[in-house]
Amino acid sequence: MRLPSRVKLVEVGPRDGLQNEAVPVPTAVKIELIDRLSAAGLPVIEAGSFVSPKWVPQMADTALVLAGIRRRPGTSYPVLVPNLPGLEAAAAAGVDQVAVFVAASESFSHRNINCSIDDSFGRVGPVAVAAMARGMTIRGYVSCVLGCPYEGAVAPERVAEVAARLMELGCSEISLGDTIGVGTPGRAQAVIEAVAARVPVERLAAHFHDTYGQALANILAVLERGVGVVDSSVAGLGGCPYARGASGNVASEDVLYMLDGLGIATGVDLDGLITAGAFISAHLGRDTGSRVAQARGRAGSEGGAS
Ligand code: HMG
Ligand code: MG
Repeated sequence: MRLPSRVKLVEVGPRDGLQNEAVPVPTAVKIELIDRLSAAGLPVIEAGSFVSPKWVPQMADTALVLAGIRRRPGTSYPVLVPNLPGLEAAAAAGVDQVAVFVAASESFSHRNINCSIDDSFGRVGPVAVAAMARGMTIRGYVSCVLGCPYEGAVAPERVAEVAARLMELGCSEISLGDTIGVGTPGRAQAVIEAVAARVPVERLAAHFHDTYGQALANILAVLERGVGVVDSSVAGLGGCPYARGASGNVASEDVLYMLDGLGIATGVDLDGLITAGAFISAHLGRDTGSRVAQARGRAGSEGGAS
């Protein structure tokens, strides 16, 4: 098995996770969560999004969150933007990295951002130009790379086409999202191979949801194909408001436990991550979605690991 010696973990819980919460999460809680995550050594924490508050009310306080966090040297704090007003808001908040997003499925594009894939590129294009003019780096997300809640299977070639268009727009990293978590390892490898024929694999990130319990297996499978960037969400926060039944992103703690076990360096401290996950889970009043954190909690309450 050929695996990378180092993996970059991109923590998306404060955005991809919290955007789905039905009850507003106070700004101070978001700030403390992000500060705990950066203290654990995460190199990238997606801190929020500048999207329409009518569509995603949970992210309406992103500017306040950015103003309140302690910026740890070595950690970057990108935000998601859907359009030029979002980019302007990000720039006003002092952001230097933005993420844009498109889908590999037409129906999902309509439900998520109210337009076709082509029209979404019409929106994303000017955002990319404006972001580059401001010296920002741009990450591109592709949703539904392994399946769509409305259309079913998505052809790898379609994903490759969309990813290539994002690269042409200037995206330095492209994150491939299994938004509804239906993928299996062989299909995950097939999509990486198709995309890697158009976009250098060094620029690809894996963004897997764990709906069908396949996320860790899928991550391992794509690491074998040369992917070196993995998105995850502390405590497995998340889901997707436009994809019924979608569970959270794979839990960061579980990804890190696997990478640690494989001897793959990340620079992230598992205990710190578990503590951050416990903090937000306690605030939300529910159990963590991380199996590793659950096991550690049980071991702790039983007086030690057996
Ligand atoms: P729209 O309704 O078609 O467009 O929304 P609009 O331009 O008519 O805007 C509607 C209202 O929102 C207007 O206000 C705008 O001013 C305002 P009104 O005139 O009605 O008072 N507005 C904004 N306000 C603040 N910031 C902005 C902004 N833009 C417009 N940036 C739009 C189109 C794209 C804006 C909307 O659909 C939207 O914001 N969608 C965001 C959806 C979203 O955040 N989804 C989750 C992210 S994607 C994801 O999670 C997947 C990913 O994690 C990968 C994976 O898991 O697969 C990335
Ligand atoms: Mg996601």
